[in-house]
Amino acid sequence: MLDDLAEILLTPEEIATEVERLAARLVRDYEGQTPLLVGVLKGSAVFLADLVRALPLPVAVDFISVAGYGAERSTSGVVRIRKDLDENIEGRDVLIVEGIIDTGLTLSYLLRNFRTRQPRSLRVCAFLDKPAQRIIDLQVDYVGRRIPDRFVVGYGLDYRERYRNLPLIGVLKASVLDR
Ligand code: IMP
Ligand code: MG
Repeated sequence: MLDDLAEILLTPEEIATEVERLAARLVRDYEGQTPLLVGVLKGSAVFLADLVRALPLPVAVDFISVAGYGAERSTSGVVRIRKDLDENIEGRDVLIVEGIIDTGLTLSYLLRNFRTRQPRSLRVCAFLDKPAQRIIDLQVDYVGRRIPDRFVVGYGLDYRERYRNLPLIGVLKASVLDR
């Protein structure tokens, strides 16, 4: 798998540092609360697993799965819920956990959808942010790293369902993306 990478953007050690930094901010902001962390499947799963273990807070966890219609590497803007939340979020402090934000379309859909369910608070925590491709202006409350406009894999992020298990964030070689 490592042979398929052109570059390593974040090592496992750098990832761990970012997770600790995000957890420290969340602990300050959610002190005295029991936030519901909602992982957006599947890309957030590895990050969420690390994040909850770094949080010395009572938390609840749920997952949602959304499908964008369209190309392999991008989002078309049409989003459909494939697996909805199990929990009722009315009156809850909800934190959406995302692996990466690119155009922002997925997240803006989720924010609109979740707001109609009347949570007490609603915030977003994304491990990676690629602001260069943003189509929709979004307020992302917690961001691990801003990265350049490259297609990255690892730490839960895939290319055609592969590379999610890489313990680092890497840029795929163009030759791998094209084949
Ligand atoms: P958005 O709706 O364009 O913000 O897309 C977000 C989703 O696109 C993420 O949850 C990922 O599934 C996928 N995505 C965007 N950029 C990348 C990337 O560089 N690597 C892997 N998946 C990506
Ligand atoms: Mg994907």
